[in-house]
Formats: sequence, structure tokens, C-alpha cells
Amino acid sequence: MAIPKIDPPITNASGPLSVTEEELHALGRSGAGAVVTKSMTHCPRAGNPEPRLAARIDHDVGSINSMGLNNLGYERYAELVPELKRHGKPVIASVSYAPCEHELPLEEQYLVIAKALEEAGADMLEINLSTPNLTGIPIATDPENVRKVMEPLRREIKIPLSVKMPPYNNSLPLFEEVASLLVELEVDAVVTMNSEPNVLDIDLQTRTKRLRPRGGYGGLGGPAVLPIALGEVHRFYRYFRERGCEIPVWGCGGITTLEDAIKHFLAGASVVQVGTALLWEGPSVFERLWTGVERWLAEHGFSSVEEIVGAVQEARGA
Ligand SMILES: Cc1cc2nc3c(=O)[nH]c(=O)nc-3n(C[C@H](O)[C@H](O)[C@H](O)COP(=O)(O)O)c2cc1C
Repeated sequence: MAIPKIDPPITNASGPLSVTEEELHALGRSGAGAVVTKSMTHCPRAGNPEPRLAARIDHDVGSINSMGLNNLGYERYAELVPELKRHGKPVIASVSYAPCEHELPLEEQYLVIAKALEEAGADMLEINLSTPNLTGIPIATDPENVRKVMEPLRREIKIPLSVKMPPYNNSLPLFEEVASLLVELEVDAVVTMNSEPNVLDIDLQTRTKRLRPRGGYGGLGGPAVLPIALGEVHRFYRYFRERGCEIPVWGCGGITTLEDAIKHFLAGASVVQVGTALLWEGPSVFERLWTGVERWLAEHGFSSVEEIVGAVQEARGA
């Protein structure tokens, strides 16, 4: 199924300022081209114990979080969808898994949530296969689990399905195995990337770890991850296009300036998402970035973003 038009092609990344009803309506009123919900689970979750977010670590290199999927639970998000749609832009529901008292198996949780959100009128689902802060091991690093989760969704859900992926860094064989599976499963878009997992920061004044859950380890977002995200976007883009496959890649990671967004488009992203910068700046970030992107396009003789998607050139010798 065709994915909804995201206009402008910039949205929030699932998580930051997208948990509560108020936050979601603020995104609806903002310059973002869609509203993406916080990743929802079967049961409401309070998330991990505090401190679980270092919003701005030293030198503004980024944020580190170990939120543990704090969310209202899928039933509440399903109730909110019709109201959110009144803002006149696509509503994308991010769907995740967490162990809960109902003890539903992994794939069933995803399916129950996905069906409810489709029924509620969501325009697209973003299947989060990459949460790093529950066990440290995301579903997307196990191809068998990716198949287990995605096959029933592909069969039973009619609205477009994107998948949110973790960085594969230097695990190239794993990347290729999963990318080929995504082609086989005919996902409608790939969103890359989730936080760079298992990072640590230390407060020097108190000589204390910044975060409490999971031994202090969290997921990194913000400027520090920009080159990592560009590598992930470009790798998926090339993998698909070299095989004649048109799956769109949505870029997420490290965008705080208009130039960062342009780099994502050049690397192959057709839509970009903003997480840490939204946390820092609030929903006005979308207007600032998009105005800048439009100015850059005009100054460089382009009339639309489509003209630069994947248009990065290989470096040449002198
Ligand atoms: C506080 C916080 C909460 C997040 N929660 C989620 C989430 O629920 N689902 C998800 O897919 N990604 C989540 N992320 C990851 C972001 O969506 C994004 O992939 C990552 O931060 C990289 O983008 P950035 O560099 O723009 O921050 C979260 C990130 C932060 C900082």
C-alpha cells in the first residue's frame, strides 16, 4: 500500500515529546509533516527508574536515555488517533513490545496493537524492532524474530508498515541478512536509526554515572550520531536500489541543523525524523529546519527534495 504523503518530509522521531496527549497535539499543531507516537506497548508502562535521561551531555554532543518504553498503553493511543487526525496530517503509530502481565507472545502483542491502531484510523504503523533499553538486545538483531513479528503483520494489516531499525555498525553480514528479509517481507519503508546502544556518560563533579537503569548504559542520540545515521541510511538505500527495490528509507539520527537534514536526503532519506533536537528546542524545531531546507534547495537550484534524495556522489581523486 502506498505510504501517506509526508509534507513537509520531516517528522518527530518516536519518543521525545510524543508520549502524552498534550505532547501529541503540540506535534499536530507544529510544522511537522506527520505525528509519530511514542512506541506503545500492550500494557501502559511507567518505564525505567530515574534518572533515565541525560538530555544534553557535555559539549552538546547529544542525549543519552534509558527510558524503558514509558507509554500510555495501546488502548489509550487508539482512543487518541481520531482526535490527532483532526490536525490534518498523517498519524503514525509506533508499535513495540515489552513483557507484561498478559504474557502474550512477542508476535501476538505486535499484532493485537497493530490491529487496534489500524482500526482506530492510524495512517501508518512504525514497527519498532530496535528498542535498546529493555534487554539491550533489539529484535532487529535476530532475523528469525524479525520474520516472526513481521510475517503476521504483513498478512493481516492493510495500512502501510515501516520498520524502525537499530544501527548495524560493522555487523555487515547481519545487516545484509535483515535487509534481504525486509525486501522479501515487502515492508513499505525503513526508518533508520534508533539510538546508538550501550553508551555511558559520567558526571565528573560527583564521579557518578548519569543514568541509573541497566548499569548506567543508555542509547545515544543527537549530533554525535549524525555520521553513524548517514552511514545506515546510505547502506539501506544502496542495498535496495542495487536490487531494483524502491523501499523508501527514512533518516533519523543527529539532525539539529538544516545542513544535517540535507545530508540525510543526499544519503538517501526521503523523509527525515528529529528526536534529540526536538527535546532541546520543542516543536518549533520543525519550522526552523524546514524553512532552512527550502532556502538551501532554492540557493542550490533545486525545486524539490526529491531531486536530491540519494544524490550524493562518490569522492574522486585530485
Ligand atoms: C527520550 C527518548 C526516547 C525515545 N523513545 C523511543 C521510542 O519509544 N521508540 C523509538 O523507536 N525510538 C525512541 N527513541 C529514539 C529516537 O526516536 C531516535 O531514533 C534517536 O534518538 C536518534 O535520533 P536523534 O539523533 O534525532 O535523537 C527515543 C529517544 C530519546 C532521546
